[in-house]
Order: sequence, then structure tokens, then C-alpha cells
Amino acid sequence: MKLVVAGTGYVGLVTGACLSEVGHKVVCVDIDSNKVEMMKKGISPIYEPGLDELLMSNYEKGRIDFTLDYVNAYKDADVVFIGVGTPEREDGSANLEYVYNVAKQIAENIEKDCLVVVKSTVPIGTNDKVEDYIKSNLKNKVSIEVASNPEFLSQGTAIKDTLHASRIVVGVESQRAESILREVYERFNQPIVVTNRRSAEMIKYASNDFLALKISFVNEIANLCEIVGANIEDVTKGMSYDERIGSKFLKAGIGYGGSCFPKDTKALHWLASDNGYELKTVKATIEVNENQKFKLIRKAIQKYGTLKGKKVAVLGLTFKPGTDDLREAPSIPNVRRLLEEGAEVIAYDPVGIKNFRRIYPSGVNYVENPEDALRDADLAFIFTEWEEIKKVNLLRYKELMNKAVLFDGRNCHDISEALTAGVEYYSIGKKEIV
Ligand code: UGA
Repeated sequence: MKLVVAGTGYVGLVTGACLSEVGHKVVCVDIDSNKVEMMKKGISPIYEPGLDELLMSNYEKGRIDFTLDYVNAYKDADVVFIGVGTPEREDGSANLEYVYNVAKQIAENIEKDCLVVVKSTVPIGTNDKVEDYIKSNLKNKVSIEVASNPEFLSQGTAIKDTLHASRIVVGVESQRAESILREVYERFNQPIVVTNRRSAEMIKYASNDFLALKISFVNEIANLCEIVGANIEDVTKGMSYDERIGSKFLKAGIGYGGSCFPKDTKALHWLASDNGYELKTVKATIEVNENQKFKLIRKAIQKYGTLKGKKVAVLGLTFKPGTDDLREAPSIPNVRRLLEEGAEVIAYDPVGIKNFRRIYPSGVNYVENPEDALRDADLAFIFTEWEEIKKVNLLRYKELMNKAVLFDGRNCHDISEALTAGVEYYSIGKKEIV
């Protein structure tokens, strides 16, 4: 079988690499010549642990190739996976322009029967429309079918999440499409859930929105814990022993970011409204998250009156550890607020500085280790729980900072550690150490 993957972002490239790793022959198509050249050298254009090695070894074995030449890639493909982005439009709906660009290229170039598999996160009903679109634009007399096969990988653990996925969801309208996808995924040896296309599209949104809901719920409980004198970490520990609740995605903090939860909550809410239904839980999830982002900076402003002239250490910029991705990272609006306040910002992140510098080329001082950020600072914020940041003992904060005041947005430290070190400590859902 000739497998082609359109788009070499997180979803497309990791899918291509993992399909080749289990022995398939894969061609990855992208429109960016620099990216294609890099990938041919075994260098991943995205930061993802383990991906370079996977690309290099499968490229050397001749199982994966990269090309700009979509005409030749698509013309004799058995299966084309569409893994391009579906960014958010201003009104919250998903922008499907890139999906349709690929659909057009397939329609104009395919010369044999082909299964088109949509991996991108798309609104319910899109697979039907993409199939109609391709069929009505076909240049050759071939049979085309579209299947939905949403992706559940997380950035930072994308390879493990794909090679050892919890499930493979296959949304099909025919036996033929099901058996092709079963053949593709047989070697992964994972549970395959077969549904119709609309249910598969909904599984993706419902899964992401449920995880986002869990985070917003726990953040609200954390906020209430602070008011009533409970400790969120003890509370979630106590909850997690109930298997119906589980222990995952119960970590309180300054809210979720990334390229998926913010976009997918808004897109499903938009889609529901467009269908005359209000998704109240998803609406609340979004509202809670917006508010949560600024929880600690509000506390800081309340404490000092103004942050003007304060030297502020910012530890962690990416939306989570293990990625250089800054999309919807809480650090971005928080740094903006700090700068508006007139604070002097010294920022550290192990991999995110290059991308952050594009957003804030001036006004922020970037340093290469957390201790340099803390030196002589009046207060510090933790926005991402990188190991490099978590491992700095609070005693070092006390030694290095002008005034050891820490606003910990990811609950990296214990209250007892703060007490012992003599650090003024504000976190999420725990007692303040003043
Ligand atoms: C998310 C989903 O977890 C994947 O299953 C899905 O495939 C992916 O979106 C996607 O749609 O492509 P990702 O955005 O990479 O993956 O990141 P997550 O690990 O889910 O984290 C998202 C955000 O939630 C981060 O900002 C993280 O800090 C935050 N989070 C996560 C919490 O605040 N608390 C938690 O307990 C867990």
C-alpha cells in the first residue's frame, strides 16, 4: 500500500513517522521547501522528543520520504491522510481552508481508487462535505471515499501516544474503508473503535473538551479551596482513588493552553450555537480558563499596588513542558500585563525562548538558566513546570532573589518547602505562605 500524509505539523509528521516505523512505506507532502530539506536530513521541523531519531532511521531504511511534489505523491496513492492545521477563526469556528486545499489537490491529481483519511480535527459533518467536494472535482474516473480517523496524541509524548495509543478511532461509511484502515493499523495492535464518520468527528471534540472541562473544574475547586482553607493537592489525591474519577488531568494551575483545548472548546461551542444548542459546560470551561490565566498576576498586583519598576523573574514560557509551542500559552498575556504594568521582565525557558522572542523581540531580558532569572529579582512567576525549573530548590530562591516572593502557577513546590526556605509563596488552591 502506498500511504501519503499531507502536512508535516505535529499530527501529520508524527503519523507519517509512526506508520513508517511499523513498516509501511510513507510519503509526506508539505508546501514548505525548507521543511522538506530539513526532514530529508532527519531533522524534525517541530520540537518533539524522539522524532528526529525516528525520521532518520526510517528515511535511511527507505520507508519514509518527504516531498513538495504533491502531483506525483497523490496520483497513485492508496491512502492519503490529511493532517493539516484547522486553526481558529475570529468567531471561534474552525478554519478549514488547508483541509480543502489538500482535498482539491487530491481531486485534481488522483489516478486510482483511493481512501482519503481526515486526521485533522474538523467540525462534525466535514468528512461528508470533503467527500462531496472531492467527488465533484475529480479529474479522473476513480472511486474516492473519505474516512475520519481523529488523532489523540499530545505534544511532548506524541510518539508514545501514537505507537501505544489508547484507541484508534475509525469513522467510516463502508466496509471497504473499514478494512483498509484495519489493514493500515493492524501492526499497531491497539483497540480499534469503528463508528460512522460523524460520531468519529464528535469523539475527538468530546474527548478534548471533556479533558479541558476536567481542568477547569479542578481549577474552580482549587480557587474555592483557597477560600475555605482546603488543599487542592490533598483533595485531588483523595478523589483520584475513585476509578470513576481517575488521577489524570486533575492538576490545578493557571489554566490550559496549546493548539488544541482552547481551539477545540471554542469550535464545539460555536458548532453547537450554530445548530441552535447552547453547550453550557463547554461555555463554562472556556470562561473559567480565561479567568484562571490571570489569577496570580492579579494577586501580585493586589499585593504590591503596582508592579512598576519591579524586577520580575518569569520561569517557563511554553504552554506545557516537553514542547517549544507557545500557542495560547498563559505566559504570553501574563508577560504582556507585566510589561504594561512597567515591570522589568527576565525570562527563562529551556526551549521556548526562540519562539517567545518572535512575540516579544524587545522589552524582555532572556537568560539561559533559571538562577540567572532569579538573581536580584523582586518577585518570580512559574508559568510552566519544566524539570529544569522544578528542581531549583526554594532555598536558592531565598539566596538569589532580592525578596523571595514566588507566584507558582503550576504548583511545583510544597508549602512545607516554602516555610522551611522562608519564601513568600502563592500557588493555586493551597494556603498562602506570607
Ligand atoms: C491535547 C490532548 O491531551 C490530546 O489527547 C489531543 O490529541 C491533543 O490535545 C490534540 O487535540 O491534538 P496537548 O494540547 O498536546 O494534547 O496537551 P495536554 O497535555 O493535553 O495539555 C494541554 C494543557 O492543559 C496544557 O497547558 C497543560 O498545562 C494543561 N493541563 C493538563 C493542566 O492544566 N492540568 C492537567 O491536569 C493537565
